[in-house]
Amino acid sequence: MANRIVIHADRAKGTINRNIYGHFSEHLGRCIYEGLWVGEDSPIPNTDGIRNDVLQALKQLQIPVLRWPGGCFADEYHWKDGVGPRENRKRMVNTHWGGVVENNHFGTHEFMRLCELLECEPYINGNVGSGTVQEMSEWVEYLTFDGVSPMAEWRKGNGREQPWQVKYFGVGNENWGCGGNMRPEYYADLYRRFQTYVRSYGDNRIHKIACGPSDADYPWMETLMKQAHRFMDAITLHYYTIPGSWSEKGSATGFPESEWTITLRKALHMEELITRHSAIMDQYDPDKRIGLIVDEWGTWYDVEPGTNPGFLYQQNTIRDALVAGITLHVFHRHSDRVRMANIAQLVNVLQSVVLTEGERMLLTPTYHVFDLFKVHQDAELLDLHEAVDQIGSGREGLPQISASASRDAEGRIHLSLCNLDHQSSATVAIELRGWAEEVILVNGSILASEQTDGHNTFDTPDRVAPATFTDFTVAANRLTANLPPMSVAVLELTSR
Ligand code: AHR
Repeated sequence: MANRIVIHADRAKGTINRNIYGHFSEHLGRCIYEGLWVGEDSPIPNTDGIRNDVLQALKQLQIPVLRWPGGCFADEYHWKDGVGPRENRKRMVNTHWGGVVENNHFGTHEFMRLCELLECEPYINGNVGSGTVQEMSEWVEYLTFDGVSPMAEWRKGNGREQPWQVKYFGVGNENWGCGGNMRPEYYADLYRRFQTYVRSYGDNRIHKIACGPSDADYPWMETLMKQAHRFMDAITLHYYTIPGSWSEKGSATGFPESEWTITLRKALHMEELITRHSAIMDQYDPDKRIGLIVDEWGTWYDVEPGTNPGFLYQQNTIRDALVAGITLHVFHRHSDRVRMANIAQLVNVLQSVVLTEGERMLLTPTYHVFDLFKVHQDAELLDLHEAVDQIGSGREGLPQISASASRDAEGRIHLSLCNLDHQSSATVAIELRGWAEEVILVNGSILASEQTDGHNTFDTPDRVAPATFTDFTVAANRLTANLPPMSVAVLELTSR
């Protein structure tokens, strides 16, 4: 049987917030140091210390928002150690991640410069676990105060006359765990207190983001919403796709066939988590003023053999591309509540879009999904109905196809399709309703691989890369596409 998809071009379901395509960069392993920051004196070509090859690759993705400095690191980070002349900055131990020395060379000014170069919004995560209200309050003042104040003067003395615009500020990270092992009642009170002093100065309006739950911790969400919803603009959710257990997560490459299905099924669990957390939020915020921000998501495997276990360095395959595609589709479906998401992490850590080794760099299959899907950013989500085949049955099963469609400001419709089946190609019959014109297909791109662990290496960086997709037919407003196994495609439809 063919898979059937009906797209209602005349039924828009709201905007897909571009921030769903956000990223996360932590002082962890080789994400910041080596991956992004090489320093001004490095032989690796750089702009103000940030490596040019990675910058150029990331600019292509049109990253809307970047979260920093953690993660668990955020609740141990003291921002004042990371400003002023670099040679005078304090060195600290990064206790969470490998016990390595953090020299604080990448601090507030360097991060804000990175955001400027990427033309993205900064999302800064403050320290509740080991910081003080004063320290957090002064960080916001340092960043955004336009006028005469101790922090604004210090910023100017450090070379930045104008305040920056900072829209997104997180009040703690994982405060149920690495951010202080707090109970929800205690954190809710602390959140209320800390956020009071996170001020919006001048024309800078800060969105205050509360630390939300992980996975299915519904009691945490309930308590935070009940006790603090009036004081927040958004609340976070963290969920990682781990094929195995916490102690044996599974390998990024060379994994058994069974782990293909398990991984994708676990990734699809995001749908249930968002649905149930949103239902709790609806009780306290029926008008959906408060955003749900999934600011850590993605695959988490055992580290690459021979690498520092605290550095979380893993390869990235076509399986990760599928995880990215189907998860982004989940976010689209919930875009009335999900206002931002940040895949973990940007470079060299977990499900990265870019990997580096010395002066070399490669783009991962996940990178290509973000590149292909960027057409959905800020586009109108279209009503889409699917009747798709199942791979396997019941709780062991998976849908063969995942799809999402949107219309951009120029009126073009983009349809993204994932074939989750690692063995069979899939025929998809697509009907476009509510569109008077005849369809002309302008563009089609596809990312596919013949191996379940197909990936790019520094010697073969283009093994998994997008190609032009032509395996479709068009008749009036109907299309039939044949997707190879394990593939992600994006079609652009336009009319005469
Ligand atoms: O992304 C890696 C870590 O996962 C983050 O530091 C933490 O917030 C989460 O547990």
